[in-house]
Amino acid sequence: MKKSINLILLSCLLFLSQSLWAQEDRWFSTDQVKQGNQLFQQNCAGCHGVNAASVTNWKEKNDNGKYPPPPLNGSAHTWHHSLDQLKKTIRQGGVPLGGVMPPFSAVLKDAEMNAVIAYFQSKWPEQTYSNWADRFQVAATTPSQFDMTRLLKLRIGSSKVTDPVETEVEGVYQTQFGDKYAYLIENGRYVFIGDMIDLKNARNITELSRREVAKQELNAIPDSRLAVFPAQGNEKAVLNVLTDTSCPYCQKLHQEVGFLQEAGITVRYFPYPRGGSRGPGYQTMKQVWCADDKAEAMSIAKGTKSGDLSSTSDCAEASFVDDGFNMGKRLGVTGTPTLFLSTGEKITGYRPYKDLIQTLLKDI
Ligand code: HEC
Repeated sequence: MKKSINLILLSCLLFLSQSLWAQEDRWFSTDQVKQGNQLFQQNCAGCHGVNAASVTNWKEKNDNGKYPPPPLNGSAHTWHHSLDQLKKTIRQGGVPLGGVMPPFSAVLKDAEMNAVIAYFQSKWPEQTYSNWADRFQVAATTPSQFDMTRLLKLRIGSSKVTDPVETEVEGVYQTQFGDKYAYLIENGRYVFIGDMIDLKNARNITELSRREVAKQELNAIPDSRLAVFPAQGNEKAVLNVLTDTSCPYCQKLHQEVGFLQEAGITVRYFPYPRGGSRGPGYQTMKQVWCADDKAEAMSIAKGTKSGDLSSTSDCAEASFVDDGFNMGKRLGVTGTPTLFLSTGEKITGYRPYKDLIQTLLKDI
């Protein structure tokens, strides 16, 4: 019982958010819809219905051999006509084509016809409207209102798409959803998903963006929120590690953390519970993040230091373990350990400390 109520609620919410959002990038304004509503009720509702829903058997001729007024709310064929064609029908009526609808050329001004159309198009579901807009190449009123990611959002069923940014290739815009990079062309009608590579200069443009995003996300988090093993002496490099206390290769890497510190490398540990909240390291990592000394607790949890974890797993900072997991997902992390250099470059999996030192200090 409860489940079905939730489902109904959910679908109402989805419907609501979709229809609210859907109107944002249509060619008309809410004022036009308002004005059109009045004009429609006065001139059209008598035949086409108050909500432009008319009758359902609009495909069948009446006894007089004429068609009934079709619904204009998107459920019939109206979306097969361009804006100009719709206006022509309203201006001339149906009589020249053997129909019965009266002409409105003497009744409505051009702007009023636009408003009337805006009114019934505001009833169209997103899919119908976008089919129409695609077919007749109708953009939203102003370029700033026009959302290039509209179709992408529609197709992937999610609004979690970043704002498009220009790339160095004219007419190609980059956007991101989840850990995927997508390139929009022709105002978002087409998309390709994957890496864009500048072959002349042997540069992976997408990878550069990916690194920049990783760098910013990782650097934005202060050391005080992490388990940090600082470099001995002068810090020569920083290694960010997404770790899980229960993963054997994370433990192996941790056994070698002292060598990295000696070589002048600071190791910053971020929590990334494999398997999320049901993963084997989840609770322990919460305990580590609740401890006063996270680094010490990390060593105890990974078995390089004796002792017991006495901290609770239920403190304010424990939620950082979930944040770490979500961040990892955004950065395309699929397992542990995953290492990030300070450039944002990603290394997947364990590497012996000697290799790491070489990689990290190669430019120094
Ligand atoms: C007297 C009834 C009547 C009135 C009033 C009327 N219509 Fe119609 N309308 C019809 C009928 C019937 C048709 C089907 C074609 C025909 O028989 O002319 C039609 C067709 C249309 C179509 C074409 C729909 C399609 O899918 O091809 C549009 C658009 C339309 N009407 C808009 C309007 C608007 C806007 C108004 C008000 C300004 C209006 N109509 C007023 C009866 C009416």
